[in-house]
Amino acid sequence: MAALILFGGGGDLAMRMLLPSLYFLDHDGLLPDDLKIIGAARSAESAEAYIAKVHETVKAKAEADEAWDEASWARMKARLDYLAVDATDPESLKGLKAKAGDGETTSFLAVSPSLYGRIVTAMKAAGLAEKNCRIVLEKPVGRDLESFLEIDDAVAQAFDERQVFRIDHYLGKETVQNLIALRFGNTIFEPLWNNLTVDHVQITVGETVGVGDRWPYYDEYGALRDMLQNHMLQLLCLVAMEPPSDLDPDSVRNEKVKVLRSLRPITPEEAERVTVRGQYVAGAVEGQPARAYRDERGQPSDTETFVAIRADIDNWRWAGVPFFMRTGKRLPEKRTEIVIQFKPVPHSIFGHGERGDIYDNRLVIELQPDEDISLSVMNKKPGLDQRMQLQPIKMSLSWGVNGKDAAPPRRRIAYERLLLDALKGDSTLFVRRDEAEQAWKWVDEVADAWSGAGFKPLDYGAGTWGPEAADLLLSRTGRKWNTRD
Ligand code: BG6
Repeated sequence: MAALILFGGGGDLAMRMLLPSLYFLDHDGLLPDDLKIIGAARSAESAEAYIAKVHETVKAKAEADEAWDEASWARMKARLDYLAVDATDPESLKGLKAKAGDGETTSFLAVSPSLYGRIVTAMKAAGLAEKNCRIVLEKPVGRDLESFLEIDDAVAQAFDERQVFRIDHYLGKETVQNLIALRFGNTIFEPLWNNLTVDHVQITVGETVGVGDRWPYYDEYGALRDMLQNHMLQLLCLVAMEPPSDLDPDSVRNEKVKVLRSLRPITPEEAERVTVRGQYVAGAVEGQPARAYRDERGQPSDTETFVAIRADIDNWRWAGVPFFMRTGKRLPEKRTEIVIQFKPVPHSIFGHGERGDIYDNRLVIELQPDEDISLSVMNKKPGLDQRMQLQPIKMSLSWGVNGKDAAPPRRRIAYERLLLDALKGDSTLFVRRDEAEQAWKWVDEVADAWSGAGFKPLDYGAGTWGPEAADLLLSRTGRKWNTRD
């Protein structure tokens, strides 16, 4: 028998993401037959009551995706169990160990990271950190380099690095993996993937949601630590890394860590020029009025809900190519995309474009709301115009267009891929200790520069693309953020 233990099994992450993901995997016949799933949390409820809650949440999600069937649920239900525990107490965890048995055991910590250190110590004492055990850690691990190392050292006392799976759910997104396929499964992009041809790269993660219930957590972290330190730097790594020699976990992660090491530190003197902090004030998002961040709790706060940064990678391939990243809450659209903006033609024989720009190409890797990769290329506007007119057309490389007669596969929750990999012990799509360490180091410098200079976040109206300074970050260099037009 193998076991998957979900610490925080009744919490938001487990109910919204992990348990539905496990249902979908089971539905598709991808879970090992003998896998037991054990929810573990503080609340003193019975296994029946827990399973009833899981049933409700999983059914709603599966029905929405037209993937609900009673037979799959019956299979999943037979796997499920629950135990009320104090996860920091070894005695209490012994009951969990008894339920999990002596087979392979994967423990997913979906609890407050402030408890990670104490939980792993208790796990070790309870026999849940044996050689055939793994641990999955949800982000954020730490709030800065120091606290990350403190937690990670406690983890390292109990587990070898090969047993540790630091999750970044962005790496489980289909389009993110497609980016790896695009770069390393084709010859045509590689010769263009450098500072001779690429003008700059943009990474945007825009969200329409506010912070709402998550205020106490979020106010401690802010956009820099919640999104940029992990998801956005991971995307940057996948765009910028050198080709790994294979898809082995260490081959891929060795390349990613080299990118992180090459990030130019942002000095306090530079911070004002290359970073923007923002916080939303009242406005409207998708036609609905939205309150200011600080009114959601009725408390003043200097936490940023928006960040934009220019990063420079000091290596041979990327010297001189800025990577612009921006992310925020209460922006006009839920949009996640990576834009590889190629240089304009050196001399245009067609004059300039309608908006005065010279012709250029752009590869847009869209993760949300749609999953798509498209290349914009110039072609001739049909007609008899005296002077040849050009227009950009988008060549879509997405499944929807090219999937021939088959229906596109169901859009999977990113955690499906990652849970499956963790259960198999494949850590290619997980973050290694030195990656997280390096990312914190870079982000700490930004945070220190902000606090050192007393940079307060600039206001931006809910429903706008952040403070004006975010546009200036690009326009100062003659560039602009990609728009959907
Ligand atoms: C989480 C952050 O890691 O990612 C949230 O903590 C954010 O603040 C979420 O909303 C975004 O994930 P996705 O997959 O919806 O882009």
